[in-house]
Amino acid sequence: MIIPHPTHAVRIPGRFTFDPATAVRAEGAARPAARLLRTLLRPATGLPLRDSPSGSVVLAVDPLLGGLGTEGYGLTVGPDAVLLRAATGEGLLRGVQTIRQLLPPEALSERPVPGVAWWLPGVQITDVPRHRWRGVLLDVARHFQPVRYLRRFVDLLALHKLNVLHLHLTDDQGWRMPVPGYPRLTEVGGVRSRSMRGRAGSGRYDDEPHAGAYTAAELRELVAYATARGVEVMPEIEMPGHARAALAAYPELGNVPGRALEVWTEWGVSDAVFGVHDEVLDFCRSVLGAVLDVFPSRYVHIGGDECPVAEWAESPRARARAAEAGLAGTAALHGWFLGRIGEFLLAAGRRPVCWADGSGAAGALPPEFTVMPWRDAGHGLAAALAGQDVVMAPHRATYLDYPQADGPGEPLGQAGAVVDLRAVHANDPVPADWPPEAAAHVLGTQAQLWTEFAQTPADIEYLAFPRLCALADRAWNPAADWATDFLPAVRGHQARLAALGVRHRPLDRPRTATA
Ligand code: ACM
Repeated sequence: MIIPHPTHAVRIPGRFTFDPATAVRAEGAARPAARLLRTLLRPATGLPLRDSPSGSVVLAVDPLLGGLGTEGYGLTVGPDAVLLRAATGEGLLRGVQTIRQLLPPEALSERPVPGVAWWLPGVQITDVPRHRWRGVLLDVARHFQPVRYLRRFVDLLALHKLNVLHLHLTDDQGWRMPVPGYPRLTEVGGVRSRSMRGRAGSGRYDDEPHAGAYTAAELRELVAYATARGVEVMPEIEMPGHARAALAAYPELGNVPGRALEVWTEWGVSDAVFGVHDEVLDFCRSVLGAVLDVFPSRYVHIGGDECPVAEWAESPRARARAAEAGLAGTAALHGWFLGRIGEFLLAAGRRPVCWADGSGAAGALPPEFTVMPWRDAGHGLAAALAGQDVVMAPHRATYLDYPQADGPGEPLGQAGAVVDLRAVHANDPVPADWPPEAAAHVLGTQAQLWTEFAQTPADIEYLAFPRLCALADRAWNPAADWATDFLPAVRGHQARLAALGVRHRPLDRPRTATA
């Protein structure tokens, strides 16, 4: 009853019981997984799990293990030994999370839990993910979260074998990424005077400044922490729209000379977007240079969604740029802009990622771009047929800022839809009607935690759980059945979430309960 549901698991007789003398045998590429096992089990169990060549818990990397891919693992638990094997160290990291979930749920506690027998049931598991991209976007622009919370969030992802943390670092309402030479990005762009405390257009605000930015050292430390848990941190810098915090800091990057803007205090889509003059492209390359210095991820997200083009139509500089680039009109500058920035990332050995929402911008981009269709699966199909890789992010199944139920007891969420647990679990990353040549371009899927309405870690975790359990289940093993596999597992999983102190939405809360 673990989440995500293993691809192949059988019970075998007996159990393995840990005691203070239990030792771990791990050599070479298996050592990081042994360290993670110790780090994760020690707080609750106090078990030393010494390193010993005769240890009964054996972690081994064998590159010749066929069929496990880079993240699969095999786990055998018998009365005398635990054997965890994988073709890579990363596969072992996934297996460590399975061992954690097979223990009594108290093993996940961050505090010592005395008097519990720490045992694993006899099992034989061979477990290989169907999709290699199993991600979660966390929006730290709308509401900033300190790195100590991001570390906890990474741990929660890793527990569910989710492997990408997509950090949405900039938006109209805040800039969180430090960039040498541009101190105003965080000093000015990282602060907004107040926040809307209702939906877009509500006109309701608090009176509190909201501020926050990371240091490069903090972000590097986060990357190291995530890497040790098999999670890649993918940064996102929004352009050419969703850029108003940057324009507040450096108005000359905009389209209207002499205009002063404040960091936006509304929710929604601001009409103020980056200009398309050389200085802006140089600025974006400098920002991304700083991003590449901090984040070693293969993929780098450059936004590209919801870019109103009205300012370009009015701007003599933008019109001249469109003419000089041979574009049909200023609207095509959207794809042109992303293309120029994509070239920079490709030359630096990275893979550019952008949103696809039918604006036409993604369609103008080369096949080296990876796209995230969020509005309509058809945008993903068009991209895949054009040779782009796709990470599916359909809003009606992966946007966790929508309420989980339509009752008045739910916290304020994005309007227009309910995304319940079943909708998330029903989202097969590969739509059933896609032809094989398009399906082959689907890297996987990810959840989106936009935080207009989520100010605190407790708010985030209420939105995230148990829905992330459903997303993880589907992305790892699309064959997992809602009724016979997932539901019983997620019921049992609530004890693990409780041990971790995750304030999740109770599974049995009626749709109309009051909070
Ligand atoms: C998005 O929801 N604008 C990607």
